[in-house]
Amino acid sequence: MKKLFNISIGTKSILFGFHQFLIHPFFVYIAWIKLYKKIPNFEQTLAIIVHDWGYWGKKELKTGEGESHPEFGARIMEKVFKKDRYVRGHSRYWAKVKQIEESKLCWPDKMSNYLYPFWLQFFLYWITGEFNHYMFESHRKGEIDKGNYSKTFEDRKKFVIEVRNFYKKVIEEYRANYKIKT
Ligand SMILES: [Fe+2]
Ligand SMILES: [Fe+2]
Repeated sequence: MKKLFNISIGTKSILFGFHQFLIHPFFVYIAWIKLYKKIPNFEQTLAIIVHDWGYWGKKELKTGEGESHPEFGARIMEKVFKKDRYVRGHSRYWAKVKQIEESKLCWPDKMSNYLYPFWLQFFLYWITGEFNHYMFESHRKGEIDKGNYSKTFEDRKKFVIEVRNFYKKVIEEYRANYKIKT
């Protein structure tokens, strides 16, 4: 019986967590329009839909085996379009590993982090246990302050705020660098 619930964090994330297969692409799609003032074309839309499917079965999200998660979606894009122009480069880390430029999908993906309604993001992190992973992994990656986050409601709220602020800064920097109009 216990095995039934022994689903990896990556799978949980896709089924009912932050990377939920309908919710996450929805917010990335909205972010794309906000950022580029353009509706994604068919290829871009497919990339938005499949880019995180590679989290399936992964035991980590931001670190370790989670880092290669763009590969699965990238292969889908290669099957359909012969070339992957968006998925591998949506992850800044994976783009570095593969020695490619960050793709156009990278920034809407980051922006989506603060387009989710706060309560929804909190709920998805909580229901899947992603909270524990993100707190640990974000700290390890140096994305959040050292502050000790406990499992209290208040600390978790603080953490979600910090994640959103982190990505707001990422997008501000992106906009400053590329002089994208807001
Ligand atoms: Fe991703
Ligand atoms: Fe994503």
